Amino acid sequence: MKILILGSGAREYSIALALQNTNENIEFYFAPGNGATATIGTNLNMKDPKVITAYAKASEIDLCIVGSENFLAEGIVDLFKENNIAIFGPTKAAAMLEASKSYMKSFLKKYKIKTAKFLNTTDYEKAKKFIMSLTPPIVVKADGLCAGKGVIIAQTYEEALEATKNMLSGESFGEAGKIVVIEEYLDGFELSIFAVCDGKDFILLPAAQDHKRLLDGDKGPNTGGMGAYAPSILASNGLLEQVKKDIIAPTLRGMQQEDSEFVGVLFIGLMVVNNKPYVLEYNVRFGDPECEVLMPLIDNPLDLFLACVNKNLANTKIHIKNEFAVGVVCASKNYPYKDSPKALIDIGEIPQNSHISYAGVSLENNKLYASGGRVLVCVGTGKSIEEAQKNAYMLCENVHFKGKQYRKDIAFQVLK
Ligand code: AMP
Ligand code: GLY
Repeated sequence: MKILILGSGAREYSIALALQNTNENIEFYFAPGNGATATIGTNLNMKDPKVITAYAKASEIDLCIVGSENFLAEGIVDLFKENNIAIFGPTKAAAMLEASKSYMKSFLKKYKIKTAKFLNTTDYEKAKKFIMSLTPPIVVKADGLCAGKGVIIAQTYEEALEATKNMLSGESFGEAGKIVVIEEYLDGFELSIFAVCDGKDFILLPAAQDHKRLLDGDKGPNTGGMGAYAPSILASNGLLEQVKKDIIAPTLRGMQQEDSEFVGVLFIGLMVVNNKPYVLEYNVRFGDPECEVLMPLIDNPLDLFLACVNKNLANTKIHIKNEFAVGVVCASKNYPYKDSPKALIDIGEIPQNSHISYAGVSLENNKLYASGGRVLVCVGTGKSIEEAQKNAYMLCENVHFKGKQYRKDIAFQVLK
């Protein structure tokens, strides 16, 4: 079987690794991939959805799995479908749930799904009036995709007005900021929920928690994510039942009514306030690094992807291990501020129940080099969160490259 995976991060590497560990005879292709994916498959130097579709058709790809949101927003799924090639991910119209925050908020309102009180607008005066009706902190969001940077939590009215002005003028985020979403601030704890959907049915993967800040104790600047763990005991069964009934089921029904049936991963960023879940945002793909801790917990990932593509989840049994996984991101020296010098990666012993998922690496003369950004994720699994964490950190200590930095407290939320 030939599987093409789209993206270049540790997320995409971890999907391939999970499939490889549970199935023989898969030939992997990646576009564009990274230095490590080149060691388990073939990297295709392609980014244009049309070029990728033509390649997939010509080389008889059996299944394409889309890792990164940019391909989805560009409509790669629509192109594959037109060509009758199986693809796991939402169409361009369904991917609007992530690509446009104003669309997402209007959708939530229309289908009566709990979310922070908000206003979508292109008009500064209207934004100002709404801002002045709230109590700081006030949340100001750019409508479009901004690589996770388009959200400002303003501590004062002045800061909120300034952020709004800069977005609407195009100064902060260009076209992506021409519509703003102003929101009330919700004070609670955050959880990432992953529902894998076939359009009508879904299965819930273990709840995960990301660590967005660079430094221990959630200090320092925001990053793409410095580590994750799953399942989180913060997600009680009662809470998960509420999420299924009051959020996921109405979302899938709503998307059907909008003629945008949702196939793929619905990644829901929740804020839990007084034990009630509110949708902060939807993403339409796996989180990174959440994916890296979820993949090792699924016994039959290929069945999962195929069941979604074939709209057959209701008749498919997906086995989730009764285990925990912790993933610690090792980033390069200057992350997230600027590029870092290339550094050779030296890996010592890989302890039992641990493995590496690779991201920012290049392959030269059969050697892996850290090439910047988030370099790799050390993942540990175990029967308890403590054991999984210990295994992840043992591996971290055996991985060396110049400038390596990592958080020492991944999963602290549940280990206090
Ligand atoms: P988003 O990309 O919309 O998830 O926002 C990024 C981050 O901003 C979230 O993970 C939250 O930490 C924070 N955030 C977004 N919206 C709100 C809100 N209404 N109240 C509190 N925090 C928020
Ligand atoms: N880990 C957050 C994200 O992938 O958006």
